[in-house]
Amino acid sequence: MDEKERNEKERIVELRQQLHQHNIHYYVENQPVISDQDFDYMMHELESLEKAHPEMYDPNSPTQRVGSDLMGGFQSVAHRYPMLSLANTYNQQEVADWYDSVKRGLEGEDFEVCCEMKYDGLSISLTYEDGRLVRAVTRGDGVRGDDVTANVRTIRSIPLVLTGSAYPASFEIRGEILMPWDVFNHLNAEREKAEEPLFANPRNAASGTLKSLSSALVASRQLDAYLYYIIGEELPSIGHYENLEKASQWGFKISKGMKKVHSLDEIYDFIDYWDTERKNLPVATDGIVLKVNSLRQQRALGFTAKSPRWAIAYKFKAERERTRLINVTFQVGRTGAVTPVANMEPVQLAGTTVKRATLNNEDFIRSFDLHIGDYVYVEKGGEIIPKIVGVDLDSRQADATRVEFIKCCPECGTPLVRYEGEAVHYCPNDDGCPPQIKGRIEHFISRRAMNIDSLGPETIDEYYRRGIIKNIADLYDIDVQQINGDGSREKSARKIVEGIAASREVPFERVVFALGIRLVGETSAKTLARHFKDIDRLQAATLDELTHIDGIGEIMAKSVISYFQNDENATIVRRLKDYGLRMSLSEEQLAGHTDRLKGLTIVISGVFQRHSRDEYKTLIEQHGGKNTGSISAKTSYLLAGDNMGPAKLQKAEKLGVKIINEQQFLEMIGLNA
Ligand code: IVH
Repeated sequence: MDEKERNEKERIVELRQQLHQHNIHYYVENQPVISDQDFDYMMHELESLEKAHPEMYDPNSPTQRVGSDLMGGFQSVAHRYPMLSLANTYNQQEVADWYDSVKRGLEGEDFEVCCEMKYDGLSISLTYEDGRLVRAVTRGDGVRGDDVTANVRTIRSIPLVLTGSAYPASFEIRGEILMPWDVFNHLNAEREKAEEPLFANPRNAASGTLKSLSSALVASRQLDAYLYYIIGEELPSIGHYENLEKASQWGFKISKGMKKVHSLDEIYDFIDYWDTERKNLPVATDGIVLKVNSLRQQRALGFTAKSPRWAIAYKFKAERERTRLINVTFQVGRTGAVTPVANMEPVQLAGTTVKRATLNNEDFIRSFDLHIGDYVYVEKGGEIIPKIVGVDLDSRQADATRVEFIKCCPECGTPLVRYEGEAVHYCPNDDGCPPQIKGRIEHFISRRAMNIDSLGPETIDEYYRRGIIKNIADLYDIDVQQINGDGSREKSARKIVEGIAASREVPFERVVFALGIRLVGETSAKTLARHFKDIDRLQAATLDELTHIDGIGEIMAKSVISYFQNDENATIVRRLKDYGLRMSLSEEQLAGHTDRLKGLTIVISGVFQRHSRDEYKTLIEQHGGKNTGSISAKTSYLLAGDNMGPAKLQKAEKLGVKIINEQQFLEMIGLNA
């Protein structure tokens, strides 16, 4: 081995070690010590060195987070130690009973209890050997689970290689994989726009994500993980709490609020405190877990067939009320999806009046065998939208009629269809069903699409009724005369026509989004626009081409193809092109795009020297970042100019949001001249 080769190999080892450490600073401790730019730089250096030395391949290298996809599904593997669940309690008396049973079991010996959050995600068991992640297995039936190692590797807060050297040679650590609230809300907002079925809660979203066969998709969903139970033959300490503290030094994210207590009163205090404080946590929790701290005492207490005697879960009460179902109505969305809605007698729930709840689809209605006039239980738990969780069968009237899903569209009378494998009913009359037509036009003019704010839903409704517009392309044919009606509205008519004309400047990716292709949300529209660069290429894309794009699944790909295959749509697109809408990426767009700000949320505040605020906004987006208006815990950076309000600054400091000036920002995107 010559000297160059030796140096390069040493450098690979060094970079890997440093990058593992920086990952922990960033994703586990939320305290990066180097800039993202330096991090990327080191990562690139490592990538190119690894390319030059394939013999140094290591599945646990920081470059290998997103690996190859699983072709044949997951392998089922046996757990070395079964994954048991916990007994649940729902009130203080049951907690006291458990506490007494522990006291009896330990024959009066003193004991400590470790109180921690009960995370509401999906449990995972990680095996580490010689400080390296070797396997990640889901709970499954507790005896066998699925090997999801490739997907779990993409979760940045799970260390691939541990830091320090004080960890046991071999151990398992268990915890919960979660989708943070902000990621969940964003994902659902995207799905809503694309009229895809929403995830009911972050747990379902996390579970759906982890079971995906594409590790790139898993990586893009930004899952997080908290670890709460370590098992092995040679653990560093004789206490559970102490072992977890050690684990945190090896690079794991553990429950932040964890506390060791000595009495029942302290347990109650902990429960009371977190019952409200948990609402400020970035991830979903559904209770508190109490564990006898001493491992010796845990062994003495042992297990029942299902759960340990040394631990118990106290579940927070989901807020639930009982109310009466008045009737069920059906709404037709922009893509023709028909959603049943329960209209109920108003009831107060978790601070708001609830009178409507979505019933999702026919299967959901059937699962409750819902009847009109039923008393139903509505709950607002982890979910944002209230949902029906049960029916009080005892109070059902003998002559109550069963809720039936409608057969025909309530708007246009067309028989509904239900595609194979989908739970949703659709009205297939795309071109003739009024809410679909109006919905598509409303979507087209909306702020994030063509942003024609001189028009609104009422005007669209009026023009549609008057026969002025039947599709999005007709908008560009409107003239002042035509909409001026009796002649008294010239000024507003002019404004409307000007607003429509100005939308010709809207960038291509937003035009793609505005078309309203089923399942294509804002992000996917951007992906498609950037990939194909102009409408002709997008229109000509094959299924194979589409499904090879990161982030575009088969169902969406099929929807894109069927959109352009429809003659009516093809005519609309051709007309829009003729009216001068942007149908390709601009020169600057082609030149200046990077992913440098991917995953970052940046707030702009103050006055700048080198670019205007709007220019900074565009730059953030061009480099893959997100610009938002107000500072929150989710903000990655505050881009601060002169004369910034003190309140914003204070908030940023309080939340630990990094503050950067324009120089630093321009450096981040490689534009510092
Ligand atoms: S300890 C042998 N600690 O709750 C006991 N579990 O209902 C091992 N969970 O399967 C579990 N937060 O998925 C433990 N701080 C916590 C937890 C926790 C959430 C989940 C876990 C478990 C389920 C039991």
